[in-house]
Amino acid sequence: MTMSSAARKPLVVGNWKMNTDRASALALARDVAGGSASIGDRVVVGICPPFVYLDAVVRDLQAAGSKLHVGAQDVYFEPEGAFTGEVSVGMLEDLGVEFSLTGHSERRHVLGESDELVGKKTAAAVSAGHGVILCIGETLDERRAGRTDAVNERQLRAGLAGVGAEQLSILSIAYEPVWAIGTGNTATPDDAQSAHHAIRGVIADLFGAPEADRMRVLYGGSVKPDNARELFSCPDIDGGLIGGASLKSEPFLRIALAAAETR
Ligand code: PGA
Repeated sequence: MTMSSAARKPLVVGNWKMNTDRASALALARDVAGGSASIGDRVVVGICPPFVYLDAVVRDLQAAGSKLHVGAQDVYFEPEGAFTGEVSVGMLEDLGVEFSLTGHSERRHVLGESDELVGKKTAAAVSAGHGVILCIGETLDERRAGRTDAVNERQLRAGLAGVGAEQLSILSIAYEPVWAIGTGNTATPDDAQSAHHAIRGVIADLFGAPEADRMRVLYGGSVKPDNARELFSCPDIDGGLIGGASLKSEPFLRIALAAAETR
């Protein structure tokens, strides 16, 4: 599996959220594919277009022989049936979509997803060999109450409840403090490093130290070209999940280059 976290090679993924249209999605994917190919293989680069454009984007990239990885922004845990509006792991795999985000803060806090639902989605995906980036992170109130590590631990334990150690190679964690997403406020490198270190500690407790050492933990929340290098220099930050700055190829590729050059 190409998204595999071997040696924690940095991973930079663009989460396009509910943006682009068909033509701009195809153009952006092509530009990112071209630019990431010239950065080389020191960084793994992925994009998460909206569901409706996944098929067109995957086909276009395959036709161009691109190695850019394509993921979905969410996935449902049931394989099929009466679940209006949902999309299964099998449907995504059918299109050649390699991985999905689960537990993004907008799913949790705008759409009301529970820790338990995020866990079911994560387990269903990895058990089918479908990669996952499990997103976790505290709100501003939780941070102010000193509960950052406790919230991350709760979301991790629930999110990974159905995941076996043998499935970890296709799973990454994204730490995205909710107060930093789309706000222009970024965690300081020290705060982010401290959260990432604690996250790796929970993974070690659940699966063992060697597994924790192999697990990619990405940072997300207002990553931009001018703060990426500092963040990616932290020893426990293995790349980024990028929202706003992934909607144009130029800043996104500068962030990917920063990851390639710092690690
Ligand atoms: P942002 O979004 O980079 O726009 O803050 C990050 C994310 O939500 O994944």
